[in-house]
Amino acid sequence: MSKNILVLSSSPRRGGNSDLLCEQFMAGAKDAGHEAEKIFLKDKTINYCQGCGACLNGGKPCPQKDDMGEVLEKMIAAVAIVMATPVYFYTMCAQMKTLIDRTCSRYTEIRNKEFYFIVTAADSNKQAMERTLEEFRGFTSCLNGSRETGIIYGTGAWGIGDIKGSEAMKLAYGMGTKV
Ligand SMILES: Cc1cc2nc3c(=O)[nH]c(=O)nc-3n(C[C@H](O)[C@H](O)[C@H](O)COP(=O)(O)O)c2cc1C
Repeated sequence: MSKNILVLSSSPRRGGNSDLLCEQFMAGAKDAGHEAEKIFLKDKTINYCQGCGACLNGGKPCPQKDDMGEVLEKMIAAVAIVMATPVYFYTMCAQMKTLIDRTCSRYTEIRNKEFYFIVTAADSNKQAMERTLEEFRGFTSCLNGSRETGIIYGTGAWGIGDIKGSEAMKLAYGMGTKV
């Protein structure tokens, strides 16, 4: 059965290591007959959550008029969501965290999703990625019925494109085929 896959690519580097892994994952998914769309977050205007409480306490839509509304619609509609981040100071990058915070107004509707995580880092130690993965899990633990279905470790990659030809690229393609 064809699945609707949303890929959230948060690196500020278009064609960077995590973005390339996203493309590989998507290529695999498409070859397996799935529908996959990537949102390159830098192309979108997504402001910080203001913590105003309008959505939580007042039950109102987020008052901010930027691109987060359309991203949220796609997150809610997707069967599987791929979240890709470069590791910055052993945490996720600010663009991804900003997106997560802005799901606040509708996160209860992001339910029963399969989640794939892609992390890229100069460090080649996979264990050192655990803190960043735990941050993703902090988010998904707030979502009803979410399932962690795969992780791609793009480790040992510093320069833009260093990931090319790596085992991680093959794994990303293969994981995409198995969604
Ligand atoms: C601001 C900044 C902080 C970084 N912090 C780390 C770090 O803590 N650990 C690490 O292994 N690599 C770190 N890196 C390297 C990136 O994670 C690495 O270049 C990665 O491949 C970037 O992925 P991208 O090409 O998808 O943007 C950092 C890079 C930048 C620009």
